[in-house]
Amino acid sequence: MEIALKAKRLKAEGRDIISFSIGVPNFLPADHVYQAAREALEHDSGQYGSNRGPDDLVDAWLGSLERSGVTGYGRENVVTGVGAKHVLFNVLYALVDEGDEVLIPTPYWTSYIDMLDVMGAKNVLLPCSAEQSYKLRPEQLAAAITPKTRVLMFNNPSNPTGMVYTKDEIAALAAELVKHDIWILSDDIYREMIFDGIGWHHLVTAEPKLRDRVVLIDSISKTYGMPGWRVGFMAAPERLAKACVTLNSTAITNLPEVVCAAAAAALSGSQAVTEGKCKEFAGRRDQVMACFSRIAGMTCPKPQGAFYAFPNISFAFGRKHRGQVLNNDVDVCAAMLESVGVACVPGSAFGEPNGMRISYTCKAEELPDGLARIERFFGELE
Ligand SMILES: Cc1ncc(COP(=O)(O)O)c(C=O)c1O
Repeated sequence: MEIALKAKRLKAEGRDIISFSIGVPNFLPADHVYQAAREALEHDSGQYGSNRGPDDLVDAWLGSLERSGVTGYGRENVVTGVGAKHVLFNVLYALVDEGDEVLIPTPYWTSYIDMLDVMGAKNVLLPCSAEQSYKLRPEQLAAAITPKTRVLMFNNPSNPTGMVYTKDEIAALAAELVKHDIWILSDDIYREMIFDGIGWHHLVTAEPKLRDRVVLIDSISKTYGMPGWRVGFMAAPERLAKACVTLNSTAITNLPEVVCAAAAAALSGSQAVTEGKCKEFAGRRDQVMACFSRIAGMTCPKPQGAFYAFPNISFAFGRKHRGQVLNNDVDVCAAMLESVGVACVPGSAFGEPNGMRISYTCKAEELPDGLARIERFFGELE
């Protein structure tokens, strides 16, 4: 956010800035989504609604999960919330007590840490380097679990790396997880953004015994270009779902009717916009990788999902750019913003200071220009 704000400020000062810093999709929802919202407005009851979420929205999400190959969940397992962020907060609030250990593979989505700090949990970071494609390995997991471990945070595809676990990798993790009595929060919000036909594979389908301890987290934000509409979902064992319904009752009561109608339409209507965007992002990923491959010293595990890439930039540390020594990821990103006007996020924001995140959802015409500037920046290193 700091980098994004600085980029905005420089832009306001008249500088020519390209921002690769914010993780939002660059498209608006399909027409049928707006149509559903308009119709809902016509019939709006203006009343309080269900703490869980209205049945048609819950059913629409269950249908979408089934299309992705996850079956066997019913309305009693599902709870909605004000975006995946709120749903994650609810679940962590329900599960985690002060002092509990929570396993977080790094690089991680920043808000996990902030939420767990609020809960007073002990964050146990599991470093997943570029050499292991930023993916958690079963033996790392086994070594980190203690009697105090309560939860594993698992994000696939990943923000910030764009990494996607293969079917075999998911099966290997599931085989390890089934041996330990811990909860798994599977943050699946990028599940529709998968490239190269590799498919999306889930721990609960790999190992059905995990169903008692896995929570699926989802959102319409990234898939349908609806981050501001604020609709998220979870599927969990009934007891936990019930606790989260109670938390909703206490904190928010319900999501607005019009928003629910739009979200249901997005989930159950034509998926053409999402599919088109997914193809477009795969092409952009290729442009990003082609650029990185031309930068001497830079390595970047190939992302196969979401809309992020996370190159290792440690080759630049200790070197000079236009006379200034770059000591770390923050120096690199700050110098890049100042000198060539490109905003990326330092990896330390995600617990991996050897990298930086580039989010490639900018305007189409900005991408080649932004990438050329990044190439120029690293080419100027002394
Ligand atoms: C991995 C991950 N989880 C959850 C969220 C939150 O999504 P929502 O907009 O549904 O709150 C984000 C948003 O950037 C994210 O990247």
